[in-house]
Amino acid sequence: MKKLFVSILFSGLLISCYAQVIKVSENPVRWTISSENASYQVILTRDSNLTTGYYGPLSGERTFEADDWNADPRFGTSIREIPYRGGYVFMEPTIEVIFADGNRELELVYDGYETGELDGYPYIRFDMKDIYYPFTVSEYIRVIPELDIMEKWLVLKNNSKKDIKVERAYSGSFRLPADEYDLIQFSGNWGREFIPRQSLLTPGIKSVFNRDAKSIQHTPAYMIRPHGESDEFNGKVYFGGLQWTGNFKLDFVIENNERLQVAGGINYWDSHWILNKDEEFITPKIISGVVEDGGTNGASQLLHQYVRNHILPKPHNLTSKPVLYNSWYATHFDVNEEGQVALAKIAQEIGVELFVIDDGWFEGRNDSRGGLGDWYPDAKKFPNGLQPLISKVKELGMDFGVWVEPEMINASTNLYKEHPEWVLQTPHRTTHEGRNQLVLNMAREDVKQYTIEWLDKLLSENDIKFIKWDMNRNWSETGWVGASPDKERELRIRYIRNIYEILGVIREKHPDVQFEACSSGGGRVDLGILRYTDQTWPSDNTNPEDRLYIQYGYSHLYPTNTMLNWVTDWGYGDHQKNIPLSFRFHSAMAATLGIGGNLTAWEQEDKVIAKEMISLYKKFRNTIQQGKYYRLKNPFEETRSAVQFVSQDRSESVVFAFQVYETIAGVPYNSVNNRLVLHGLEEDASYAVSDGEEKFVISSKVLMSSGITVNLKGNYASKMFTITKQ
Ligand code: DGJ
Repeated sequence: MKKLFVSILFSGLLISCYAQVIKVSENPVRWTISSENASYQVILTRDSNLTTGYYGPLSGERTFEADDWNADPRFGTSIREIPYRGGYVFMEPTIEVIFADGNRELELVYDGYETGELDGYPYIRFDMKDIYYPFTVSEYIRVIPELDIMEKWLVLKNNSKKDIKVERAYSGSFRLPADEYDLIQFSGNWGREFIPRQSLLTPGIKSVFNRDAKSIQHTPAYMIRPHGESDEFNGKVYFGGLQWTGNFKLDFVIENNERLQVAGGINYWDSHWILNKDEEFITPKIISGVVEDGGTNGASQLLHQYVRNHILPKPHNLTSKPVLYNSWYATHFDVNEEGQVALAKIAQEIGVELFVIDDGWFEGRNDSRGGLGDWYPDAKKFPNGLQPLISKVKELGMDFGVWVEPEMINASTNLYKEHPEWVLQTPHRTTHEGRNQLVLNMAREDVKQYTIEWLDKLLSENDIKFIKWDMNRNWSETGWVGASPDKERELRIRYIRNIYEILGVIREKHPDVQFEACSSGGGRVDLGILRYTDQTWPSDNTNPEDRLYIQYGYSHLYPTNTMLNWVTDWGYGDHQKNIPLSFRFHSAMAATLGIGGNLTAWEQEDKVIAKEMISLYKKFRNTIQQGKYYRLKNPFEETRSAVQFVSQDRSESVVFAFQVYETIAGVPYNSVNNRLVLHGLEEDASYAVSDGEEKFVISSKVLMSSGITVNLKGNYASKMFTITKQ
């Protein structure tokens, strides 16, 4: 113990520059991590373990001793900062290992700590070691004080000569004070992604998880509120998410002391990892944040800033996204130079800046049964390759982008003939196809290398500035030809790691190229993939009314500069054909604008409207893509929706208001609820407000108390208000 205090004293000098963030006190030894408005405590227990103390808003901070159970070495620490399998446990373990002799119990003790700085932000590392086996665990906590967000991850190290089987290594665990809580998860399906669902967390475990390389059903992020609270702008909210794609698990656990534990990381279902001698296993990061009284909107704003400043690849994280055209809904697989040039000319006329050719450009891709794997231009469609089309697009003054689906292969391709062993498959079992395609085993080093090579060649030989990386089917028969049974069980983890590595290598070689993550619509939107991609495709559902719901859900977690929306002609059955183009545009303009309609079929008057809308969007896009976001009306509660953006310097704001149906009982904008109260403007300032027709100057006080009059009439009515400081 004496040695411990000396090391704490010494480290105390080292951490002086982080003293405001990470403080250490004695008797008991307690580390307090304080961000701008939140506090997190870790306490050293009498049996040399670590327990979690208070976690929550700074104003409610309490310092308490490790409770009786933890203080009594007869029982050992049951409330652990790093829960593991072994000992007198109540918590969901973050670590489960089996030693070479079959021992499945861990017994970890505290072995010191270190503080420092990683990428300009303070961290603390707690070291634990097993009392018998040469095995160590370190927990890192990195703090973003101004966002009240902590990142946690674990490093497991095998210092012995024998292999250790890791059956679980989650990223971390957080314990919230005892209370009744509601979980908000964001779960949907194809065409209705990111639907917020709020439910009471009852004793037991609720797990939100996925067993795939995509997560169209559940996004790996959450919010937690005291039970029954639903105010958008007020109330306490804990929130978090995982930097991992697809195959994740988040556990929400209430056990007998009624505090809530949130633990999560990679989903180890059907997986384990063999930790060889001297090897380390580094988990992905889990993040957690808390808002004292800002409601879900406050939590979203912190998450948006976090994603923009700490997740998205630099420097594109802070630059405005170009207005993009994508030809998928216009031409499907029927692409050729002539048809694409015809679309590109109109796209340029209306103001598009980036022209993207979707699926169908590569060898043998006439429908979903061919092509995937043979990643060179189809000789019949593009006899001279892609470059002639690219040159024409460039001459029109636009950049060029392409669609790819690197993780997939069709059985009819040359690649499959050469490498049938590269496909996920299990002996004596049917190899199932999905959308007529098979899954490449991206865990293999040769497949990873092949993918890096063809992507590099494509980008080196063609002037391409944008890649849409799609992934359209679920895993099945996750077998690995030629691998040992142990290695085969690592496939689900190695696969995702290799996807990140491929993207990392390609980005480094081609830093000007931006990437979009897509998976049958919004199946790949998470903090893991966003470290390597610049934007995402939230849904294949581009119906502008449905989009109000999808965008509402998405906006809880991820910022608008990652959320691409297209104006299309998709889904215009009898019911929807009367949706005005202005409504379709306003819905898509409420994030990153793209166009996906068949422009060759658009009437001249539509193109005139499109040109005006795109030009207006460009004037305000920086505020829309980089500003603070306020959800003014919840489309799930009414047949109306409204969002507001405020530039970071508060000099400019934009509001989009939508009325889907004019009803009397549904509180239309044109009766009792005709006003939208604004947020986030500068106090004591005057702003000019314009809806394109009327313009007036008014004080921010009025805008933030009485608000603006909306006056929307009829079904599918919408307005864009611009609000500029005078
Ligand atoms: C699914 C995507 O979500 C669509 O946008 C489109 O790219 C198709 N794949 C192409 O096959």
